[in-house]
Amino acid sequence: MTVTDREDVLESCRRFMAGKPTADFIPGETYIPPSGKIIDEDDLVNLVDASLDMWLTTGRFASDFEAALAKKMNVKRALLTVSGSAANLLAFSALTSRKLRDRRILPGSEVLTVAAGFPTTIAPIVQNQCVPVFVDIEMGTYNVNVSQLEAAVTQKTRAIILAHALGNPFNLPAVKEIADRHNLFLIEDCCDALGATFDGKSVGSWGDMSTLSFYPAHHITMGEGGAIMTNRKIFARLVESFRDWGRDCWCPPGQENTCNNRFGWKLGDLPVGYDHKYTYSHLGYNLKTTDMNAAVGLSQIAKVDDFIAARRDNFDYFSNAFKSEGLDEHFILPSATPGSDPSWFGYLITIRQDSPLRRRDVVNYLERHRIGTRLFFAGNITRQPAFEGVEHRVASPLVVSDTVMNDTFWIGVWPGIGHAERSYIAEVFTEMVKRLTS
Ligand SMILES: Cc1ncc(COP(=O)(O)O)c(C=O)c1O
Repeated sequence: MTVTDREDVLESCRRFMAGKPTADFIPGETYIPPSGKIIDEDDLVNLVDASLDMWLTTGRFASDFEAALAKKMNVKRALLTVSGSAANLLAFSALTSRKLRDRRILPGSEVLTVAAGFPTTIAPIVQNQCVPVFVDIEMGTYNVNVSQLEAAVTQKTRAIILAHALGNPFNLPAVKEIADRHNLFLIEDCCDALGATFDGKSVGSWGDMSTLSFYPAHHITMGEGGAIMTNRKIFARLVESFRDWGRDCWCPPGQENTCNNRFGWKLGDLPVGYDHKYTYSHLGYNLKTTDMNAAVGLSQIAKVDDFIAARRDNFDYFSNAFKSEGLDEHFILPSATPGSDPSWFGYLITIRQDSPLRRRDVVNYLERHRIGTRLFFAGNITRQPAFEGVEHRVASPLVVSDTVMNDTFWIGVWPGIGHAERSYIAEVFTEMVKRLTS
């Protein structure tokens, strides 16, 4: 083989992946995970194509994926990073930049969020020496209680950061209105909600910034990866700076003098003309992704609409099956926030207070029957060991968050759950309720 044989290598990859055997689903034996990745020949071809470049750091695939993501999310810029957690950290850190002058978030500022959800939506608030202020969520949509959010605003409040709960958008017009009226920044954590809309407009395009995760559990994957989306040039520049060592320069890897003034700046107490490439305006990180990861993201995004459609179809199937079997007598079934079109990550179920069912028995039964379950992440996060001794404020009683901590779980709706798997799941649920309530 000569160096010109890239196409041969890629064709072999395509054949290798296409020839991989698929296992048949055996009810009661094959485990049905609550989430997972769907990968095919295109993903392996892109991964190897990027590897053959041997560029290794962020490069041409990352630029193409960022452009495709921005288009999908209906925003001007998307910036890749190593995870959804890193995306949240970078988005929040950007708001602390001196370059925002008197709008900058200072240590001690309060940031509104909900107590039930994923820990790294909240961690960046504390990591930036600010104070998380918790309000409760609503049962059924699992999203922020908007009237409690409004009531929690004080003189110290500077921002709102909220996730769209398991793909179900929070009430974006109402939250945006509160943010605008009180001059607060809004970060949308869309890690579980790629493709969801509110009033027909994409989630992630409403706030100052938004974030995505591409961990394998999510709608599309790049293995490890995430992104920050924004419509504002200033936020894109700040995120880029925090992501890329804190530097002032914005040249992509391998390029120089993009600003056409590399040796002409006078910044800080540095001498005139100090190389812009080595001038730092922030105490940053290095959270850039690799081109191999980005290449997989690029091939995955071409399939995202089919993935989302399959998730919505599975969600509707479970709602119809559970209702037709009368299981909603025992379970509160999930509901879309009015005005939204969710892009479901999972199927959330809460055991009703007056049902004899107990969550522990239910999830044990399901797992024994090879149906994977998950909890709503951290439950009431203020009760997690990580929160011991962390300064925070509880703005309203966290009644629903506690109920969710005790009585809620979710099952998968990802495209790996096909017709055979979902009808088995529905049958097991019906049988389980009969057995555990008799
Ligand atoms: C709502 C939410 N935010 C953030 C994250 C973190 O993403 P990552 O695992 O890519 O760090 C997750 C992970 O599942 C999540 O569900």
